[in-house]
This record gives sequence, structure tokens and C-alpha cells, in this order.
Amino acid sequence: MPAPAFRAAATRVRVPATSANLGPGFDAFGLALGLYDDVVVRVADSGLHVDIAGEGADTLARDERHLVVRSMRAAFDRLGAQPRGLEVVCANRIPHGRGLGSSSAAIVAGITAARAVTVGGPELMDDAAVLALASEIEGHPDNVAACILGGFTIAWTEAGDEARAITLAPSPDVVPLVFVPANPVLTEVARGLLPATVPHADAAANVGRAALLVEAVTNRPELLLPATEDRLHQDYRTPAMPESAVLVAVLRSQGVAAVISGAGPTVLALTDEATAEKALAEAGPEWAAHRLALDLEGACVLPLSG
Ligand code: HSE
Repeated sequence: MPAPAFRAAATRVRVPATSANLGPGFDAFGLALGLYDDVVVRVADSGLHVDIAGEGADTLARDERHLVVRSMRAAFDRLGAQPRGLEVVCANRIPHGRGLGSSSAAIVAGITAARAVTVGGPELMDDAAVLALASEIEGHPDNVAACILGGFTIAWTEAGDEARAITLAPSPDVVPLVFVPANPVLTEVARGLLPATVPHADAAANVGRAALLVEAVTNRPELLLPATEDRLHQDYRTPAMPESAVLVAVLRSQGVAAVISGAGPTVLALTDEATAEKALAEAGPEWAAHRLALDLEGACVLPLSG
């Protein structure tokens, strides 16, 4: 088969922030949120030029080590050809190291952009292949699934570790709030705190809560408080994010379904209109507290302007 050609026009990709786990669904549940990174990519005659604005502008490498670029390279390998040159412009709004899926967003943006600038890209790499590659790079499928598909996602891996996922429409009555602390916690650190085995009773409790959460998020938000209880990861991670654990406990004691977002340290609360206002007003100054929309679309390729 001849190597594919590339489109000359620049391509813009928009990718949402995501919150993983949602309490009991460790490495399985994801929720896409209305906060976006944008990446514009153009195939050039030679070289690699990377521009970054916003999050990470002062710290990220502007070369082959950049996660968007590494993900593009992996996707181009699967698509059958590397372009001679690349120009990549990143507008980053998703906070880094806070459990809001910034690395998944970078990975999905890179793969989606590589596919979009390759002639016949969508035929050469379908959505299932995008998910499989993104999950392979990220190491777990929950954030990348929500980032690709939008909505409330359930991800799993099949034999051979191939990631699969479905998306469900969250109830429009679910109002997500995020409480973002100033300092990051590395996902590797938060994952390193987890035990190799857990008590059977804890696993059994999470299975029931996770099943209930599917109904609570999609149809019956009044069940969100019991449905977001977790025994598999949040308590183990408290030493890395004690203030987040306290905020989760305080909000839950007030009847608000609060959880650690992904590997933390952001706290995610799934609320209703009335509770959202109160919870935001009462957040301490150490939290950047925001209400976010639900994202139902996931990663998308957009016109350059607009
Ligand atoms: N499920 C992953 C974890 C999400 O909790 O480690 C990381 O963003």
C-alpha cells in the first residue's frame, strides 16, 4: 500500500477536560467537561515548530518530547507515514497535574490531529483505533475515553489490553463543580499509593456503587450521594492530598456528591442548580472553584476560525 499523503491546510482540534473515576469507577468511569484545549497543526516542508500558550507555556518542552507531538508521531506511525515537517500551536486551558485529564487531552489532540491532516485518515484509523492508541499511551482508558467520546463514559479493556468504551448521556440536571487547588499531584505518585490488593468487602461495595452511579448520572441524580461512595482509591491517596480529602468529607457531610477528580487533587462535585451556588459561594480562597458545563461531543476537528 502506498504511503498516505498529507493535507496542506492547517487543522484545529478541540479536546475537553475530563474527570475520571467519579468515586467508585476507578479506571472505568469518565465525564467530559466544558473546558477545552485547542491544538492547531499544519504539515510543513521540514522541521518541528511548537508554540504553547496558557498552561505549561513556561515549563513544557517545545520539541519531540512534547506529549502532543509524541502522540502525533505514534499516530503517524500507525497511519503509515511521518510528515517531513510539522507546526503545532497549543492553546492550553486545562490545568496540569490536577486530575482534570490534561495529559489525556494532549494525547487525544495529537492523535486526532494526525488523523485529520492525513489524507484518508479516518478510514486508515477508526475511532476504536484512536481509543486503543490513546489508552496505550496514557496507561489507563478512563480519561481518554471521555475525552474522545464526550458525555459519561464507561471504559474497559479486552483481551490483549485493547481499550473499549461506550458513552451515555448524563442527565442535564447534573451540575459539575470543580475545586482546583494551587499545587499539582503527579498521577504516578497518586497511583503509587494504591495497594496491590484490597479487601473483598471493599471491592464488593464498589461494584454496587458503580452500578448505581450509572443510573444516578444518567437518570436519577438524587442518588448521586450514595452512588459516588468509594473504597478502592480515595482514602489511600489522602496522604498526597489531605486538603482535598477534607473538602470531599465536608461537602459530603452537607449532602453534596463530592469525589476526588481522577488521581486528584481537584475535587469534583456533582450537584444541582440550587446547591451549586451555595457550594461555590462557600469555597475557601485556596480553591479555584468553577461551575463547568457537561461536554457531550468529545474531541472534534473544527474550522480554523470561530
Ligand atoms: N483512573 C486514574 C487514576 C485517573 O485514578 O489513577 C488518572 O487521571
